[in-house]
Amino acid sequence: MNAPRNPYYASVAASRTVAHHQAALMRAVDRLAATMPVIGLRNPKIGKPDLTWDYCNGPDWVMSFQSGQLWLAYQLTGDPVFRESAQARRPGFRAVLQNRKARDHDLGFQFSLSAVADWRMTGAEVARDMGLRAAEALAARFNEAGHYIQAWNPPGPHNRERAAFVQGRAIVDTMQNLALLHWAFRETAVEDFREIALLHADTTRRHLVRADGTSFHTFVFDAADGRPLRGETHQGFADGSCWSRGQAWLIHGFAQTYVTTRDPADLETARLLAATAERLMGEDRVPVWDYALTDGETRWRDSSAGAIMAAGLYILAGVTEAEEAARWRGFADRLIDGLIADCDLTANPAAQGLLGQGAAHVTAGRSNTMLPYGDYYYMEALMRSLGHDSFFW
Ligand code: GLY
Repeated sequence: MNAPRNPYYASVAASRTVAHHQAALMRAVDRLAATMPVIGLRNPKIGKPDLTWDYCNGPDWVMSFQSGQLWLAYQLTGDPVFRESAQARRPGFRAVLQNRKARDHDLGFQFSLSAVADWRMTGAEVARDMGLRAAEALAARFNEAGHYIQAWNPPGPHNRERAAFVQGRAIVDTMQNLALLHWAFRETAVEDFREIALLHADTTRRHLVRADGTSFHTFVFDAADGRPLRGETHQGFADGSCWSRGQAWLIHGFAQTYVTTRDPADLETARLLAATAERLMGEDRVPVWDYALTDGETRWRDSSAGAIMAAGLYILAGVTEAEEAARWRGFADRLIDGLIADCDLTANPAAQGLLGQGAAHVTAGRSNTMLPYGDYYYMEALMRSLGHDSFFW
C-alpha cells in the first residue's frame, strides 16, 4: 500500500500509528508487571502450549531478555519494582563470568541487557565491572587468522571433530553481540575492543552476507590459517537459503553498528539487507521462518524475526534522509502492525509472554511458540517507533 500523498492524510495516518503502537506498548508493560510475581527471578526460555514459560536452567543465551524488558519498563515508568527485579538477577550473570564453558559469543546479548543496562540506568560500578569482564571474555574469542569471533564452544575435551566444527565457525547472530565491545571501548579507551568489533563486522559483510543481499546463517573458516571455506545453515532450511531471523540479526546489527561507526559501508550493508528482506517478504506482515520456502513446505511464521527486523528498520530510518527514512519506517510499521494483529498476546490474561508464533528452531521441532527475545525486541521496536532512542546496545 502506498503512503497517502496528501499531508493531512499522512499526519492522520501517523497519529493513528502512534496511538496504536502506544497502546500496544502500554499493554506490554502491564503484562510484564502482571507476570512478575509468577516469573520471579527465573528467566523465560521458550513458551509452552498453554502460554506459560519453560525457564532457563542456568546460563543460557536467552537469559537476559527478561532483564532487558524489565530495564525498558523501568526506563518508561520509573517504577523501582522493575529495577529491583532486574538487579536481583545479577548472581545468574555472575555465574556466566565464573564458568568458561558458559561463556560464548552470546556474552553481548547477556551483558548488554543486564550489566550495561544496569550501569547506564543506575551508575552501579559493580554492574560496569561485570560488563567489562564480559567484554574481555568476548574479545578473547577472536580468531586472529580469520578475523571473526568464534560463536560456540566444544561440548567436551575429547571430541576433536566437534572442536574443529565450532572453532572455525562464525555466525550472523554475533553481529548483535558487538555492541558490548563498542561500549567497552567507550568506557576504557582500550583499542582492542573496537578493533575486534570492526574486524568481525567486516568479515561478516564479506562472507556471511551474499552479493544478492541474502545471508548465510553460519560460515566455516580454516581455524588455523583463516581460509574462508563455505556457508552452512544451523537453524535455517538449507545451506543456500535465507533464515529470516538471521537476516533480522544482520539488519539490526549493521544499522546499530553504523550508529556507532558512521562508516558508510555499514549503512550500505544494512540497506542491502533491509531491501532484500522487503523484496522477499512480498505482501507478508509476519516473516516466514525461512525465505526460501515454497508454498508446499511448512510455512511457520517467526514473530521474533519480525520484531528484531522492525527495531533495526527504525534505527535505519533514524540515520537516513527523509524519503528513504519513510520507506524503512513504513516497512517497520507494517511488521509491527502484523505482530499486533496476528501475534500479540497482551490481551490474553493467561499468556505469560507478549508474542506468539515464534520459531526458535523449526528443523528441531521448536516452532509456533512464545520466545523471550521476540518479546524483548517487540518492546524495543515499539519504543523506537514512538521516538525513544536510549537503549543498551
Ligand atoms: N541466537 C540464536 C537464535 O537466534 O536462535
